[in-house]
Amino acid sequence: MKRRECIRTAVAGGMLLLALVLRLCGLLPLWGLFLVAAAALGTLWLALGYRVWHRLRGKAQQWFLFWNYALPVLAALPTLALVLDRAPRIDERLLVATLTGAVLAAIYYLIYPKPKNMRKKIVAGNWKMNTLPTEGIELARNVAAGRNEGCSCVNFIVCPPFTHLCGVIDALRGSDIEVGAQNCAAEEKGAYTGEVSAAMIAALGCRYVILGHSERRQYYGETSETLNRKMAQAFANDLQPIYCVGENLEEREAGRHFDVVKRQIEEVVYNLTPEQFARTTIAYEPVWAIGTGKTATADQAQEIHAHIRSILRKQFREAAEQTPILYGGSCKPSNAAELFAKEDVDGGLIGGAALKAEDFLAIGKGFEK
Ligand code: PGA
Repeated sequence: MKRRECIRTAVAGGMLLLALVLRLCGLLPLWGLFLVAAAALGTLWLALGYRVWHRLRGKAQQWFLFWNYALPVLAALPTLALVLDRAPRIDERLLVATLTGAVLAAIYYLIYPKPKNMRKKIVAGNWKMNTLPTEGIELARNVAAGRNEGCSCVNFIVCPPFTHLCGVIDALRGSDIEVGAQNCAAEEKGAYTGEVSAAMIAALGCRYVILGHSERRQYYGETSETLNRKMAQAFANDLQPIYCVGENLEEREAGRHFDVVKRQIEEVVYNLTPEQFARTTIAYEPVWAIGTGKTATADQAQEIHAHIRSILRKQFREAAEQTPILYGGSCKPSNAAELFAKEDVDGGLIGGAALKAEDFLAIGKGFEK
């Protein structure tokens, strides 16, 4: 139970107990006791109802609202009048309605178990501009060699520099480790010196591409407009984007982090079709935590990941429940388990720690703890 819920339950229970004592001492009329009991039961009714509502999807939610909230009022009150054979008082009405509601909500709560998190668990390594090709191939080989010890439930992805893609893909043949690129061009092909197209990356055998990384937004001026075109290129070539969002330190300190990620998602992810969205992974990377050794606490990560999922839910409804949302920013073996234990943290996008096969694989073990 969360702290807020514990406090609410303690207050409601305490009020009820106090009312009972006062009643037994003759200091509280019966209607007073009924009103206090109705308030406590009403709190329980709302709290349980809220939880069940979140476990349901689509039409089932609307039906639940009717059965759990309208029915007790519509059915219990006329029944009460019949039983009493007189018009019931307001306190009696409230007590019966809240009691029926709370009992119904408790039944629903037991009937509908919390849905299991079926989302993909992903540990993706972003090598950035590190390693020479031979070193990268060696690193990939070491990752593949140690991979068997880890749980097959975790999907490992490595994203080396463009120059290493061929060699790394070769080195990983026969293993279940996927390969992604760190970027792709916004254009299909043509006179764009120095650019690498999504088609070229896909032709090598890559399945993923990181887009919108804060370093690209910051140093290469990538905007939502560019990213929309890159996303389109990725999908046109059957690549799955890992779309990065995250606020910088100034935005976090000004309390604007929720708005920043909301805008980054609305301006790009909201433009996807449902089919494209189903192939998208989101990475939340607070810029102040990238390569700095400062990690967001597990609670901070959960708070914003849940916020991201709620933004996705607004546009894509229940499909948002399946979207992996990765955390990135100084994630390492020592903090992975705590971060991955959070409901909405489905893995990590790892920078520095992905450059050592041992550390990278140990991060994946964070899911097993
Ligand atoms: P870091 O980088 O793990 O080195 O902080 C993460 C990233 O930028 O993807």
